[in-house]
Parts: sequence; structure tokens; C-alpha cells
Amino acid sequence: MKIVIINGSPRKKGRTGIATRFISRTYGIELIDLSGLNAVPLYNGDDEQDFLESVIHLRKIVKEADGIILASPEYHSGMSGLLKNALDFLGSEHLQHKPVALIAVAGGGKGGINALNNMRTVMRGLYANSIPRQLVLDPKAFDYENDSIHEDTAHLVNTLLEELQLYIKSYLVLKEQ
Ligand SMILES: Cc1cc2nc3c(=O)[nH]c(=O)nc-3n(C[C@H](O)[C@H](O)[C@H](O)COP(=O)(O)O)c2cc1C
Repeated sequence: MKIVIINGSPRKKGRTGIATRFISRTYGIELIDLSGLNAVPLYNGDDEQDFLESVIHLRKIVKEADGIILASPEYHSGMSGLLKNALDFLGSEHLQHKPVALIAVAGGGKGGINALNNMRTVMRGLYANSIPRQLVLDPKAFDYENDSIHEDTAHLVNTLLEELQLYIKSYLVLKEQ
């Protein structure tokens, strides 16, 4: 099964980047890094945007994936503008029925849940299937020296991925019918 993870943080040195790099290298999952390599422009609806390499790549990789992990910082109680903008380039033809795992990176306290709910609402708008399990990562979850996350958090990530894989298996069976 092919899983893709999207880093929705605009900050090159952001915590969401640390989390997505960890998941990408630990599980051999392809990373779409919207903060750098895979940056897409501001969506304006012009047909010319359909021919941009970054847009073609984003659409292709999401369409070919069997499952997606969306990781976004919580900014002002929502997902990042960067991630929402990238999702505006996609449609149900890229995501319909596809299992999606949601991760929010928050500032601590009780942050993160609004970004998760925001992503869940937008995924429904794209007919994707956000799985029930979800994750908030606080600043203390990170091992900054090693560009990684602490072991207890890694365990939670593993549980999230196990559930994602379970839903992907069902999705692949349904797709064949
Ligand atoms: C503009 C802005 C708004 C933020 N709003 C929230 C918020 O509503 N809730 C929260 O928990 N943290 C909030 N934070 C803190 C970030 O979620 C936190 O720093 C997180 O690590 C950001 O991810 P990043 O490091 O990948 O950018 C905000 C940070 C910024 C810069």
C-alpha cells in the first residue's frame, strides 16, 4: 500500500516538519513538504496553474496514494493557510473514499483539536474518509537535537499508522468491487 504524508507547515524549521520527516524516514513514506520542495502557489483558478510542475506533482502523488497523512500546525484554531491552499488544488477525484490520518501540531495547553476538526471538515468536503484516531503533538513531544520525536509519542504515531493501514486494507478491497 502506498501512503503519503503532507507537511502543512510554512515554517521550514517548524515542528510539523520534524514530525513529518520522522514519519517519512521511519516508515519509508513519501513526504510532500509544502514548506519547501513541494511548495505550490496561491490558488487563483487560472488554467495555467494546471501546468505547474508542483501542482501536477501534488495531484499525481495524492491520486496514486492509497492513504494520506495530513499534518498541520494549529494556527488561530484552524489548519495552516498553506495546507488549506494546497488542498484547494485537489478535488474528490484525488481523495474520494481514501483513508486519511490527521495530525495537528499545537502550541501546548489544550491546542490542536480545532485544527483536527478543521481538517476533518475539509476532508469531508473532498469525500475523503478521515479515520477516527487522530493525534495532537505538543512542543514537549519533540526531540529537537535529533530532528525527531520522543519514544512515547512515536508509540502514539505507530498506533495511528496501524489504524490507517487497517482502513487502507478495507479501502483497497472496496475499490476492487
Ligand atoms: C499564527 C500562529 C497562530 C497560532 N495559533 C495557535 C492556536 O490556535 N492553537 C495552538 O495550540 N497553537 C497555536 N500556535 C502555536 C503553533 O501551533 C505551534 O507553535 C506549532 O508548533 C506550529 O507548528 P510549526 O512549528 O510547524 O509551525 C500558533 C502559532 C502561530 C505562529
